[in-house]
Amino acid sequence: MNQDLSQASAASQPSTWSQRFESALHPAIAQFNASIGFDIQLIEYDLTGSQAHAQMLAHTGIIAAAEGEQLVNGLEQIRQEYRQGLFVPGVEAEDVHFAVERRLTEIVGDVGKKLHTARSRNDQVGTDTRLYLRDQIQHIRQRVRSFQAILLTLAEQHVETLIPGYTHLQRAQPLSLAHHLLAYFEMSQRDWERLGEIYQRVNISPLGSGALAGTTFPIDRHYTAKLLHFGGVYANSLDGVSDRDFAIEFLCAASLIMVHLSRLAEEVILWASEEFGFVTLKDSCSTGSSIMPQKKNPDVPELVRGKTGRVFGHLQGLLVLMKGLPLAYNKDLQEDKEALFDAVVTVQGCLEAMTILLQEGLEFRVARLQAAVNEDFSNATDVADYLAGKGVPFREAYNLVGKVVKTSLAQGKLLKDLTLDEWKTLHPAFESDIYAAIAPAQVVSARNSYGGTGFTQVRQALQNAKATLG
Ligand code: ARG
Repeated sequence: MNQDLSQASAASQPSTWSQRFESALHPAIAQFNASIGFDIQLIEYDLTGSQAHAQMLAHTGIIAAAEGEQLVNGLEQIRQEYRQGLFVPGVEAEDVHFAVERRLTEIVGDVGKKLHTARSRNDQVGTDTRLYLRDQIQHIRQRVRSFQAILLTLAEQHVETLIPGYTHLQRAQPLSLAHHLLAYFEMSQRDWERLGEIYQRVNISPLGSGALAGTTFPIDRHYTAKLLHFGGVYANSLDGVSDRDFAIEFLCAASLIMVHLSRLAEEVILWASEEFGFVTLKDSCSTGSSIMPQKKNPDVPELVRGKTGRVFGHLQGLLVLMKGLPLAYNKDLQEDKEALFDAVVTVQGCLEAMTILLQEGLEFRVARLQAAVNEDFSNATDVADYLAGKGVPFREAYNLVGKVVKTSLAQGKLLKDLTLDEWKTLHPAFESDIYAAIAPAQVVSARNSYGGTGFTQVRQALQNAKATLG
């Protein structure tokens, strides 16, 4: 049945092109030229855009009202056929736009040939792509929200769980684990906002720009824009058909989402290693080795980290695609679609996988984390701050603590192991409260500056994050 529909259409339409052409395309070139293999994904948007165009043609009297209705209904029938798997156009259709127009003419007869009045595939494909991306942006934003929600849930559970904080991947100062997780919440919040801003620029209608110069027909571009819920129309027809800034902006936003996911992925991979041991991977989200029976591999974050390069590649690809294009439409632009489609699928898949990973794929080893912050010199700044608080100039205190760390290391001791006498010999300002001051929980709690890791700050940040998610 599927094949029948498309073959019938191929047979009844000898060639796509005008009478100017005398012979058919070379089969390999037809294949090379065709985009139907991937732009079929745009079909629902193409149908919706064409329905709006047909309504506009009727509304402006360019075609009769009854004709407009026939076109709209015929397009709706194609939608049903497609959804039922009955409409499967092949390479002979070249692209989704031709495929739909041909099928429409089969369904409604000659009136189908009126659909393309006052329109070109150039403004049509721009419209379809924007309608598609608009929807995808909303889906991705929802996924970002789910990702933020699980970060928030975990953060709420781990306000007082301490984790070593790093700079240069060297132990720096201990942190509330919630603070660490909320850093990713903030990145994701920017991702969510950025997508919303980009949406505004995606949501502009190029329909009615024609091939490049507008049209001789008395069309109403604002009417189609309104039917399609666009926020505005392109002011310049050349720009309308050849602008792909919106796609590049989307790929930038997608790349940044991937940067954020990939950084977290990298941390999870480190944390799951024997050396760190900060998390345990659950069976539902990790895989084994085919040869080393002891292994449990962090495939999910590794794949996320790996797929990040693909999305960057699409951004780079589209930038390079655009840089040398003279106005207006050039066939090069057909190459924008696979980049967008793949980026959309990749970002959605990675957001979902990382959400599941956080939801049920890993467990923080709280005792191990606590032990880690107890066994290092990440409270050294606090000794210096302690002295500075007692009037010793900070740089002087800093130098002194540097010496203490050096001698303690040599003796295999930690700062908490020094006796009060030893402290006092180092500096008379030390008193017995030094031990409380350098205990990890106190070290974290004391960083109560706005946006810091102090528990009070973190609890406030949690409230804010909750309010953001509503
Ligand atoms: N399949 C084409 C694309 O994706 C549609 C526009 C073709 N326009 C043209 N003038 N050849 O860009």
